[in-house]
Amino acid sequence: MSTGPFTGRIAAVTGGGSGIGAACCRMLASRGAKVAVLDVDRAAAKAVAAEVGGAAFTLDVGRMDANEATAAAVQAELGPADILVTCAGVLQRPLRAEEITEAEVARVIRIDQIGTWNSAMAFGRRMAMRAYGSIITIASIAGVRSMPLHAYSPAKAAVIEMTRCLAAEWGRSGVRVNAVSPGFTRTPGLQAEIERGERDVTRLEDASALGQMIMPEDVAEAVCFLASDAARAITGINLPVDAGWLVAGSWAAYGGLPAARGNAATRGRGA
Ligand SMILES: NC(=O)c1ccc[n+]([C@@H]2O[C@H](COP(=O)([O-])OP(=O)(O)OC[C@H]3O[C@@H](n4cnc5c(N)ncnc54)[C@H](O)[C@@H]3O)[C@@H](O)[C@H]2O)c1
Repeated sequence: MSTGPFTGRIAAVTGGGSGIGAACCRMLASRGAKVAVLDVDRAAAKAVAAEVGGAAFTLDVGRMDANEATAAAVQAELGPADILVTCAGVLQRPLRAEEITEAEVARVIRIDQIGTWNSAMAFGRRMAMRAYGSIITIASIAGVRSMPLHAYSPAKAAVIEMTRCLAAEWGRSGVRVNAVSPGFTRTPGLQAEIERGERDVTRLEDASALGQMIMPEDVAEAVCFLASDAARAITGINLPVDAGWLVAGSWAAYGGLPAARGNAATRGRGA
């Protein structure tokens, strides 16, 4: 078993069966945590749990009663959760506002917004009673800037604001609540959209200051920092992990980002 900053800690990760959630499970476990992998996809949760020596739980985050039952089951099987990471989510096809159906809006809001609330409540209320805990919600850069994602963008903005509200609600109870907002991240979820032609890799890379996409491990590093006691004075923030996408966009009005300076042969090596 690995030891590290999370030795003796129990971490629950919703959407832990794939992408960013799976990367969080691996990193938390490699740094000592006992991990509960929560996912609506039972087989995916079991595979990641087996890999990290954790426990799998089947959960549809959109149902409050299911979140309550899962928080109780995690507590009974592993002990009370010290860390919750809410990665469960669905992406959305870019559509004109007039084209998106009521059913699609409801689907995205039910999982991305209400699902995050449900998990935070089920686990957070238990943390507050124990006066210890760290919750990290996974929002998105789409929650900070508008995109042609008329359900997803507002749902992620709501996640950022609910993070702030809960941070204030539970601060005196020893529970920190922070958001991480990934940029375009190479996960099975986004890869499927790239393969359907709904996202273009070159465009996604070019839109960021660093000229790159995000890897799931980049997001997991930020999550692990916020989950750890090293971040004990931090609550209520939204931390973008976006390769500088948020700072780069407004440069389009001035002709775009400047070309790279320096020697291409030594770039990235600090030489
Ligand atoms: N990939 C990106 O570019 C990107 C960017 C910003 C934010 N995000 C967010 O990160 C999170 C993870 O995304 P990803 O790209 O790793 O996606 P992914 O599709 O690879 O993984 C998402 C996981 O969530 C699970 N899930 C879906 N609905 C669920 C439900 N109702 N209950 C429980 N589990 C459910 C899926 O089974 C899957 O295992 C999402 O909230 C997404 O919005 C992703």
